[in-house]
Amino acid sequence: MASLYDRADIYDLGFTQKTWEQVKEHWQIALSDAEISSILDVSIGSGMVTLPLAEMGYRLTGSDLSETMLRKCRSNADERRLDVDLHTSDFRTIDTALPGRTFDCVMSTGNSLPYIENEEIPAALTAMDKLVRPGGYIYLDSRNWDRILRNRQRFYFYRPQTLQDGTRMDRFQVWDYNADGSMTFNLVFTFEKDGKVSQREIFEERYHPAPRRIFEDSLKELGYEIIALRNYPAQADLPVDEFDWYCILAQKQ
Ligand SMILES: C[S@@+](CC[C@H](N)C(=O)[O-])C[C@H]1O[C@@H](n2cnc3c(N)ncnc32)[C@H](O)[C@@H]1O
Repeated sequence: MASLYDRADIYDLGFTQKTWEQVKEHWQIALSDAEISSILDVSIGSGMVTLPLAEMGYRLTGSDLSETMLRKCRSNADERRLDVDLHTSDFRTIDTALPGRTFDCVMSTGNSLPYIENEEIPAALTAMDKLVRPGGYIYLDSRNWDRILRNRQRFYFYRPQTLQDGTRMDRFQVWDYNADGSMTFNLVFTFEKDGKVSQREIFEERYHPAPRRIFEDSLKELGYEIIALRNYPAQADLPVDEFDWYCILAQKQ
């Protein structure tokens, strides 16, 4: 089954000018108290979550495992005349991909760390930490896996969306809880125009649900203080434990 990251064109359909503005609002709140001007996102994907930072004046570097997503990131940046320095790398070895470089903040956006097994997360955060300047920050966002495992939700729906050419896009996810503790997200897209279904796409993503304490414990172990735990997006007004997605900002002590 295909990965959505081989179809960056479809991945990006969910992002609109409205989401771009909402993401900027998120960053204003999430990074408000931190001294940050240079940022590395180690799972930048097509960039629609971190390119707004370049528009806000941050110096942005990005890396990702997927060349297809990086190509889309480059075209998204060019379209908006934004500067971003891009590299292909697995975040588990990001320290060796950018030797000698340091950043005010190294981040992983888009619930990407749960692609690796729970046991690998401390090593990935260690590789990220090697690129953080003294007193700098690690930021990450994640689905609220504690809540997912508690509720064992199976279906996740998005609002229908009308694309620029009038096509209606419907999408939903079906979540399988695998016997080995991993989860398979089945991502279903339907495109409909003039009353006819014109395209259907199904993708599969395999995650390793990561309880929040894995991130918190690993960051503390690395000598970080967690200075903010917020919803993602930060403007969402619900207790973090009850919301779908959260973000952590931690400062190196
Ligand atoms: C859900 S996308 C998030 C992309 C972007 N940050 C966003 O929020 O739209 C997950 C990204 O993680 C990347 N990824 C998965 N495993 C990775 C790894 N081990 N190292 C680097 N990138 C990885 C995928 O290629 C994909 O671009």
